[in-house]
Amino acid sequence: MNLDEVDILFTEEELKKKIKELGRQIALDYNGDELLVIGILKGAFIFMADLVRQIDLPLEIDFMDVCSYGLSTESSGEVRILKDLDYSIEGKNILIVEDIIDTGLTLNYISEILCKRGPKSLKICCLLDKPSRRRSPIKPDYVGYSIPDKFVVGCGMDYAERYRGYPAVCILKPSVYEK
Ligand code: IMP
Ligand code: MG
Repeated sequence: MNLDEVDILFTEEELKKKIKELGRQIALDYNGDELLVIGILKGAFIFMADLVRQIDLPLEIDFMDVCSYGLSTESSGEVRILKDLDYSIEGKNILIVEDIIDTGLTLNYISEILCKRGPKSLKICCLLDKPSRRRSPIKPDYVGYSIPDKFVVGCGMDYAERYRGYPAVCILKPSVYEK
């Protein structure tokens, strides 16, 4: 990690502990039911991989890829499906897994589409939430951490496709994107 560019917000160890707690809570709530976990690419891939290994339930996984951000740090409000799910979700318990909820526009759009496909239930789990930025009525059911309005990278999250592999969640120094 290049500490000239980022400040660490949550360490790898803190994240591990938090994700374990989330997984335990999810397994408790679904109480042995089957679950289809849907990861939103690309940002959710690391959190999703860590999370499913902590959920002791019979589960399946699928992925959806949408784009909303382009290469900037601000939401455009426009969401486009780049890759849809492989299978039907009708009658299934769905858990959408997202890296971070900012304006909520992306997840609002995705959950509206998925609700129309007749799942048995639909919940949302995000690693990070920036509630102060919300521009839609989305409320996640499981949240790792609520954070202030800072741009973060690492643990799957990027700035212009960089930093996804950083093991900690880091605040990107504004000097990097204001260059
Ligand atoms: P929303 O539609 O504004 O809620 O944006 C959600 C998506 O924007 C997330 O899935 C992320 O991919 C991206 N995003 C929002 N905030 C950040 C951030 O601080 N760092 C990296 N990506 C972010
Ligand atoms: Mg994302």
